[in-house]
Amino acid sequence: MEKKTFYITTPIYYPSDKLHIGHAYCTVATDTIARYKRLRGYDVMFLTGTDEHGQKIEAKAKAAGVSPQEFVDRIVTGEKGIKDLWKLMNISNDRFIRTTDDYHVQSIQRVFRKMYDNGDIYKGKYSGKYCKDCESFWTETQLVDGKCPDCGRAVQDAEEEAYFFRLSKYAKPVQELLESGTFLEPASRVNEMINNFIKPGLEDLCVSRTSFTWGVPVDFDPGHVVYVWVDALYNYCTALGLYNDRYHDFDKYWPADVHVVGKEIVRFHSIIWPAMLMSAGLPLPKKVFGHGWLIIDGGKVSKSKANNSTNVIDPYILSEKFGVDALRFFLLRTFPFGSDGNFSNELLISTINTDLANDLGNLVSRTTAMVEKYFGGVLPAERRADPMDEELKAMLRALPEKYAAQMDVLQPHLALEEVFRCIQRANKYIDETMPWVLAKDEANKPRLAEVMYNLVEALRICLICLTPFMPESCDKALEQIGAQGCRAWDDTAYGALAGEIRVHKGETLFPRLDLDKTLAELEEISRRSKAPKTEPVLPDVTIDEFAKCDMRVCKVLSCEAVKKSEKLLKFQLDDGSGTPRQILSGIHKFYEPEQLVGKTVVAILNLPPRKMMGQDSNGMLLSAVREVEGKEELHLMILDDSVPAGARLC
Ligand code: MSP
Repeated sequence: MEKKTFYITTPIYYPSDKLHIGHAYCTVATDTIARYKRLRGYDVMFLTGTDEHGQKIEAKAKAAGVSPQEFVDRIVTGEKGIKDLWKLMNISNDRFIRTTDDYHVQSIQRVFRKMYDNGDIYKGKYSGKYCKDCESFWTETQLVDGKCPDCGRAVQDAEEEAYFFRLSKYAKPVQELLESGTFLEPASRVNEMINNFIKPGLEDLCVSRTSFTWGVPVDFDPGHVVYVWVDALYNYCTALGLYNDRYHDFDKYWPADVHVVGKEIVRFHSIIWPAMLMSAGLPLPKKVFGHGWLIIDGGKVSKSKANNSTNVIDPYILSEKFGVDALRFFLLRTFPFGSDGNFSNELLISTINTDLANDLGNLVSRTTAMVEKYFGGVLPAERRADPMDEELKAMLRALPEKYAAQMDVLQPHLALEEVFRCIQRANKYIDETMPWVLAKDEANKPRLAEVMYNLVEALRICLICLTPFMPESCDKALEQIGAQGCRAWDDTAYGALAGEIRVHKGETLFPRLDLDKTLAELEEISRRSKAPKTEPVLPDVTIDEFAKCDMRVCKVLSCEAVKKSEKLLKFQLDDGSGTPRQILSGIHKFYEPEQLVGKTVVAILNLPPRKMMGQDSNGMLLSAVREVEGKEELHLMILDDSVPAGARLC
C-alpha cells in the first residue's frame, strides 16, 4: 500500500542577518511534527528555506559593500550560516529552497504571467504607507500610532507604477474559507483576520516594484520586479516543481497539509495566499497554523535584541552550552504552541533541571543502574506481576493515543505533558516498589524483574514519543535500555519488548546545571562572541629591539586644532626634559583639544621628526585602536596623573 503523504513547511526566513532563537523555535516545532509524522508511517515532505529578495536585503548588501547575492550566500551557506544552523539543530528538512534558485525564479515569472493573462493582475499606480523593514504597504487605518502595525517602525509615503493583484475579488471566498472548518488555527486568529482585514474591505494588492532591482524581474515589463510576497509564498509550490523541471512531486504532495508560520505573517498566509491560489486555479493548503512569539524584555525576540538583551538568544551559543536536544525540548515543552511565551535563560536552565535531569535523566540512570546491579545488566524472562503495577501499566497503555491526539492537532506541549505524567509516575513507582528492599531476598527475584521490566517499558514507550523532540538523546537512551530494535510506532504498545533484555548504564544524558554558574558562563560566552575580533599578534621582536623605542610619560601643556586640517591636533608636551616638545596627532575625530589639556599621556619620542601640514612633529602619541563594525574606535592612552613626566615605559 502506498504511504499517505504529509507536506509541512516553515516560513522561508529572510537572510538579512543571523537567525535567532525565534526562528529556531518555528523550525524546531515544524521539524518535530515532521519527525512525528514519519514515525507514524507517513511519507513526509518537510520544506524550509530562505526568502532572499527585496529592498531590505538590497540595502543591507550595499551597506556591507557586497553584491546582494554575495550577501545572502554568506548568511545562508556561509560558515555558521542558516544551513549550518539547521544541521546543528538536527533539522530533518527534505528540501531547502532559496528564492534566488534559478528554478524558482523561472517559476515565479511563469506564475506572474499566468495571473496577468487571466486578468487578475493589472497595471496601476500605488501610493501608500510603506514599511521598509516588513516590506509591506499599509493603509492609513491599519497603522498603529502612525507606525507599522507589525514592527512599530516609521512608515514612509511611497508611490510608484505597479502591478496589482485583484485581491478584492476574492474577499468572499477567502472569508468563507476562514469561517469554515479548520483552515486557520488557532481558531482565535480567524476573527482577527476577518475583523481587521476582510471586513474593512480587502484592497487590491500591489504585486510589483520599480524602486529596487533585487527581485524576480517581470519578464514582460522590464523595470518591474515581482513583489516579495508573491515570490515568497509561491515557494511552497515551486519547491515541489510547479512550473519548473527541477522537481516533479507537485501532484504527490500538494496541497500542503500545514504551513507553520509566526502570527505576524498569518495575514499573508491565510488571506493573500489562498486568494492567489484561487486565481491560479490551484488547490488550497489544508491548514495554516499561526504560532506565537517568543518574547524577551517585554517585546518580540528580534534581530536587534540579539545585542541588547541580557538573555542570550543566539541558537549557536545556546546549543553549545545546553546541547541541541535540551534546547529543542525546552522550546516545545515550555511555550504553548500558538501563544506567546516569555523566553529567559533562567527558565531554560530550570526546565532542563526539572524535566530532563531530574525526571527523565533520573529514571534512565536509576533504572539502568538497578538492572546492572541486581541482574548484571540482563533482565530474566521470569517475572511476577502484582496489582500494584496496574496504575503505571494503564497509563502506559493509554499514552500513545493521548500523545498522538495532541501531536495531531499541533499541540506538542500537551503531548509532552502526557509523556511527563508517565515519567513522573514511573519515578513514583520506584519509591512504591522499593527495589532495594526486594533485592535483599533471592526469592523476590521474579518480582524484582517485573518491577525493572515495567520501568524499562515505561522508559521505552516514553522515549519513542520523545524521539521527534530529542532525536539524538532518545537514540542513546533507547540503546542504554536495550530497546534499539523496538522503537517503531507500533512498539509503543506496553509489552512489546520481549525476550532477554540487555541494559547498560551509559553516559549521563542530561547533567544538572547550577543556575548562577551557568548564567554567568552564558554571559561570558555571549560577551566573547559579541567582542570584535582582534587582529592577529604580529611576529616576535627581541627585547633589545623593543628597548630601542623610547616611550615616555608626558603631560599635555596645550592642545589646539591644526588649521585647515580635519584630523590633526597640535600638542605641546612636558616630556620631563624641561623643554616643551611638539607632537601632531590625527585624533581630532575622537577628541576636542580642550578635553586633553592637563592629561597624562604616552609618547614615543625617538621617531624621526616629520612635517605635517607644514608643522614639525617630534614623536607620536600612543593610542589603543580597534575596528568595530567597520569603524575605527580610538582611545588615547591616558594615565593616572600621579605618573611623573619623563618616566620611561619598559
Ligand atoms: N520571509 C518572510 C516569510 C515568508 S514565508 C512565505 C519572513 N521571514 S522572517 O525571517 O522574518 O521570519 C519570520 C518567522 O520567523 C516568523 O513567522 C516566525 O515563524 C519566526 N520568528 C521570528 N521571530 C520570532 C519570535 N520572536 N518568536 C517566534 N517566532 C519568531 O517573515
